[in-house]
Amino acid sequence: MNILSPSILAADFCHLEQDIKAAEAGGAKWLHIDVMDGSFVPAISFGMCVQESIRKCTDMYFDTHLMIVEPIRYVEEFARLGSNGITVHLEACEDLHATLAKIKVCGCRAGLSIKPGTPVEALLPYMDEVDMILMMSVEPGFGGQGYIEESTERIREVRRMIKTSGRDIDLEVDGGINLKRLEEVLEAGINVVVAGSAIFKNDIKANAESYMKILKAHEA
Ligand code: DX5
Ligand code: ZN
Repeated sequence: MNILSPSILAADFCHLEQDIKAAEAGGAKWLHIDVMDGSFVPAISFGMCVQESIRKCTDMYFDTHLMIVEPIRYVEEFARLGSNGITVHLEACEDLHATLAKIKVCGCRAGLSIKPGTPVEALLPYMDEVDMILMMSVEPGFGGQGYIEESTERIREVRRMIKTSGRDIDLEVDGGINLKRLEEVLEAGINVVVAGSAIFKNDIKANAESYMKILKAHEA
């Protein structure tokens, strides 16, 4: 099944509940929650209190993307505040094996992300420990950036690595995925699509519906 995970980073925080419900009404089952610490990435976004609040207004799958240094320090708390999956950055962890193990002990699915400049082979030692791989297709830190073209070939390589592993690992892409780009990343092997600025503008429900239409058509 192909999944849409709208990133609330691009939502209007004056009416976050309304925006989330519109994305859900448009068919999105996941919600992508971008946590930035001003250290691993230049920007600071939001943290626990926002996730805690929105957990009360939706049953959607919370796809928490931690762009923070040593995320192991916060895994337990995000799990407690309703994350279903927690994704950490390979570049941000001193002991990645321990970090992934902690995510699972806390009852969440474990995701691992790499930045556009990190060789895909760096993922190999962790293939038996992850439930999802998140390929950044922009430099993490800001919404609304343009897709880095080389990402498509990297996605193909990682999909091959997943096949070789024999495990059922979700492959998610994050950054610059507009409607025109969707077909290309699905073709390359993506099954979870993050979209922020393309969803949370104008008619949010209609935007999500347009993504869902292509995601579903690609399943057939
Ligand atoms: C970037 C974030 C993304 C971002 C995606 O650091 O991880 O999730 O919000 O936004 P768009 O779809 O606008 O590129
Ligand atoms: Zn993200």
